[in-house]
Amino acid sequence: MGANHSKNTHRLRKESTGSDHSSNKKSLERKTSVSSNTEKYKYIEGRRFHNLPDIHYDLPNDDDEVDRLHLEHFLIRTVWKSNYSSPIDELLEAGCTVLDIGCGPGAWCLDMATKYKNSKFFGLDISPMFPKEIKPNNTIFQECQILDGIPYNDQSFDFCHMRFMFPSFDESQFENIVIREVSRVLKVGGYLEVCEYELCQNCGPILQRLLDLRCEMMTNIGRNPKIAALIGKFMEKTNLFDEVHFEERTIGIGSWAGRIGEVAKDDVVTRMYSIKPALMNHINGLGIGISSEDYDEMMRQSVDEFNEYQTYFVTCRWYGKKLK
Ligand SMILES: C[S@@+](CC[C@H](N)C(=O)[O-])C[C@H]1O[C@@H](n2cnc3c(N)ncnc32)[C@H](O)[C@@H]1O
Repeated sequence: MGANHSKNTHRLRKESTGSDHSSNKKSLERKTSVSSNTEKYKYIEGRRFHNLPDIHYDLPNDDDEVDRLHLEHFLIRTVWKSNYSSPIDELLEAGCTVLDIGCGPGAWCLDMATKYKNSKFFGLDISPMFPKEIKPNNTIFQECQILDGIPYNDQSFDFCHMRFMFPSFDESQFENIVIREVSRVLKVGGYLEVCEYELCQNCGPILQRLLDLRCEMMTNIGRNPKIAALIGKFMEKTNLFDEVHFEERTIGIGSWAGRIGEVAKDDVVTRMYSIKPALMNHINGLGIGISSEDYDEMMRQSVDEFNEYQTYFVTCRWYGKKLK
């Protein structure tokens, strides 16, 4: 097992976004973010994970995961033919402040910042997967444990975006902390947009077995694998948005769905390998006799199943304009 002995003593400050609203409203209490005197990373089966207490996020944060998330970004952008659905084109062109929650390696922020040079993009993530130096001038990335609060003033952002955070929070955290915190830092008149995917549909029996085990593992740590169905309701329950709009796109997985299907296949397979260390830990605990080699073989067979069963997954976007 490798180790990184660097200590992270970084503390969150109440940050200014440089917007007109930076001086107003209630500030967050100062809290230690992502600080730890323990080793920052842990290594399991050759993959690197964060090593923060009380964070139940079981995907890695190494270079392979960075590559996977970049690939996924371009897959999603291609399928949707856009990086967002909210009606904010003019605002972005004119120049506004944008926050991406759980930005990962920053693929969405970097893509957006390159297109909308007058706007300023802020990305927050618990893991410093994002670029530190070689990045557009209009991007700022910061390590942040979202559950400790977002380190910005009320009404700092014109647009808040959050994508694929479903493995990160339980239902209550999503509803009572994350959606509320993001809504707090959003300006009145600004847009919140959340993008998630649902679990694969039309799975063959082999992939389904692995996905059932994954769902069981998620449930064991309080995650709802079907949280995507609840996001719109969480937004509505804040009573802050005029109307919560919903859109969805279906993505076929495998060559049956053409070139995009091939990319989606790579996305799903690499995702299943990202989750493998945590899932093998769960499987070993169950004592059901699936070895690491069996897992690899099951994944090989899953790829054949994609075409046979025409497996697909659905991505969803919800967006709403903050009224008050
Ligand atoms: C599946 S990735 C999605 C990344 C990015 N939004 C995208 O679409 O490519 C989820 C991200 O959430 C981050 N994350 C998980 N729990 C978090 C927390 N409590 N606070 C901040 N970030 C968190 C992870 O480090 C990871 O980068």
